[in-house]
Amino acid sequence: MRHAGGKGCEKMTNRDIANIESRFDSGAYAMRGMALVRGMGDLVYDADGKEYIDCVSSHGSSNLGHCHPRVIEAIRRQAELMISCPKTFYNDRSAALKEALSGVAPAGLTNMFLVNSGTESVEAAMKLARSAAGGGRKNFVATIGGFHGRTMGALSLTWNKRYKEFCEPLVPGVKYARYGDAASLEQAIDENTAAVFLEPIQGESGVRIPPEGYLREVREICTRRGALLVLDEIQTGFGRTGLAFECLREKVTPDIMCVAKSMAAGLPIGAMLARSDLKFKPKEHGSTFGDNPLACAAGAAAIHAMVDEELPARAAAEGAKLMQSLKELEGNGKVREVRGRGLMIGIDLADAPGRYVNAAIEKGLLVFPAGETVIRVYPPLVVQRKTCERIREILGEVLA
Ligand SMILES: Cc1ncc(COP(=O)(O)O)c(C=O)c1O
Repeated sequence: MRHAGGKGCEKMTNRDIANIESRFDSGAYAMRGMALVRGMGDLVYDADGKEYIDCVSSHGSSNLGHCHPRVIEAIRRQAELMISCPKTFYNDRSAALKEALSGVAPAGLTNMFLVNSGTESVEAAMKLARSAAGGGRKNFVATIGGFHGRTMGALSLTWNKRYKEFCEPLVPGVKYARYGDAASLEQAIDENTAAVFLEPIQGESGVRIPPEGYLREVREICTRRGALLVLDEIQTGFGRTGLAFECLREKVTPDIMCVAKSMAAGLPIGAMLARSDLKFKPKEHGSTFGDNPLACAAGAAAIHAMVDEELPARAAAEGAKLMQSLKELEGNGKVREVRGRGLMIGIDLADAPGRYVNAAIEKGLLVFPAGETVIRVYPPLVVQRKTCERIREILGEVLA
């Protein structure tokens, strides 16, 4: 065994880093040229020192912004005490995180299984649904346009064929209903349906908001037809849409809820929360790193910071202002619609978003595409007013 050598990151340029990374490239991502090496609040910096406004938020996982002092302190303290702990023992940080989660989640979801990512929380939900649904119910209903992750189980629920066709066969027994259409969902459910999976707002397919009352109707249908309702709040959760979780808007409590992304301000963690009577039987599920004390410490600190700093309300207020200003671009020939909730904003274009995204990045604004025609604008919830003004300016220039 040998060290391959190399410079300390602080001395490396974008080009140095890209040269090394490209030697080990998996091929799964179309990489951008620069290397991001530092972040603070709503800003990130590349290895050559260029500053960017962050409207990607690490794929929605840094709602708290970069390097939040309470999260840094929690990680530092926990790193000196205990980093890993076998899951069959209780742990103080895991306990603290679960209490913090139950303080912000819909009431009654007290069965918690901690994992390391969003897709793993969906896997856990699929397994729990099959175990707990009873009556031989094994099938699932998901929605057209839905995204639930990329492991083989979660992919079976994800709609986009480009993500999954090459690795079929996947989990059988999945039917798709039209998103936002409760009648279509009811039609797809039958006596073999274990669970319905859906996002309260579809993120990956382009920030698609269902009609008012949809979640309430879906809740009623699932209860009446004996199917479990699983809400995937992985992208919508932890304040992004203006509430701690989007399902709270219509006061809908799912049977199972999947969360991840911003749960620990960017550390890898996720959770499946379920009704207290829906339990795994021993050995039905497990995870080496689930309940990891370091991630749990960061998670509890992140949730407390979200509550104390009233970040969901901040997202609602700043999001409304930013969306209002972006709406001035509607109908200019390039922008068809600006839509969103809180700081989960999508700009729907008449055209593919790629070249506008590139132009924005060139001007120092990180944004990402979603679906076929949408630019996603997801700043951290701590985003400053003057940063929002700059976001509007740059997008105005790029989409002129
Ligand atoms: C709604 C939704 N579900 C599941 C996932 C998968 O999460 P992860 O990438 O953490 O596995 C994502 C990721 O973008 C998502 O947006």
